[in-house]
Amino acid sequence: MKKKIFCVAPMFKYTDRHCRYFHRLLTKNAFLYTEMISTQNILNKKFKLFKNKDKKKKVSLQIIGNNPENLAKCAHIAYKKKYNEININIGCPSPYMTKNNLGVSLMKHTKIITQALNKIYNSSPIPISIKTRTGFNNNNTYNFLKDFIHETSHNKLCKIFIIHARNAILNKNFSTKKNRTIPSLKYKYVYKLKKDFPHLKFIINGGINTILEIKKHFKKVDGVMMGRGIYKNPFLLNKIDFKIFHEKKKKRKEIIKKMSIYIEKEIQKKTSIKSIIRHMNGIFYNKKGSKKWKNKLNNINKKNKIINIKKHFKKIYFSCKN
Ligand SMILES: Cc1cc2nc3c(=O)[nH]c(=O)nc-3n(C[C@H](O)[C@H](O)[C@H](O)COP(=O)(O)O)c2cc1C
Repeated sequence: MKKKIFCVAPMFKYTDRHCRYFHRLLTKNAFLYTEMISTQNILNKKFKLFKNKDKKKKVSLQIIGNNPENLAKCAHIAYKKKYNEININIGCPSPYMTKNNLGVSLMKHTKIITQALNKIYNSSPIPISIKTRTGFNNNNTYNFLKDFIHETSHNKLCKIFIIHARNAILNKNFSTKKNRTIPSLKYKYVYKLKKDFPHLKFIINGGINTILEIKKHFKKVDGVMMGRGIYKNPFLLNKIDFKIFHEKKKKRKEIIKKMSIYIEKEIQKKTSIKSIIRHMNGIFYNKKGSKKWKNKLNNINKKNKIINIKKHFKKIYFSCKN
């Protein structure tokens, strides 16, 4: 059986470089995604795009935009900064994106997408992927989705599709958050895509939370992407590496120690502690001591001046275990 793909979803204001550093300590195998970054912010240098230092070579830069030239320029920057894939966001349902003809509303403008794919392909040798929805508003039939895939994969420039298996509702009274729980998921559409386009890779996303569910989807498609389930319970990455990819299990204590070394280095660069440790809240998810851990982390946030973070983490780790 071909090796399956497991990804951690791009999450705006969450999957930043600190979060990815933390997740990488927990998994060798997961493909990690940056949060979405607009082409404008990359090109105007409003967003400081750090070089990808991930030795596992499994990080994708997600960009959002609708100007083919700018998308290609960003792809070139991604390549130069050593990202391993460029991902185009054609799934965001936020009212701001929709108003500006960005995100999921671009599903109707496949010409722009194919132009962008051509330009990206010529500007950067790294693989291109698209993250999208099953459709939006009344464009919600399987045939609409199938046509979208047909047109955007036509010249084989994009061969990887991540499908959040849910229709988007574009309406200014319907929030982005609601669009992540309503309407119901249509996993069958994604399974059918794999049958209709066996030469393409399909990664299924939306509402997946357990190893059992991951295994079930692996029988039908090439990969699984998880977002919220991993953010709230990051240690699941360790279990996925162990149970699915047969890696060695890691201990929480080990991960916390490595994070303290990372934090100490980052503090030297004037990074705020808060911006890093917020991602570690869920490390004891569903375990005894979880509440205590969160409270103690939160207290560090408040103090914000810890001289020896390694010693401090050790102390709170043991106090949560007992
Ligand atoms: C806080 C948050 C921020 C998100 N930001 C992005 C984003 O930047 N780009 C994107 O393609 N999807 C984004 N998403 C959607 C996720 O990538 C994913 O498609 C969605 O949460 C469904 O997967 P899940 O049920 O496993 O969380 C975001 C989701 C959440 C919860």
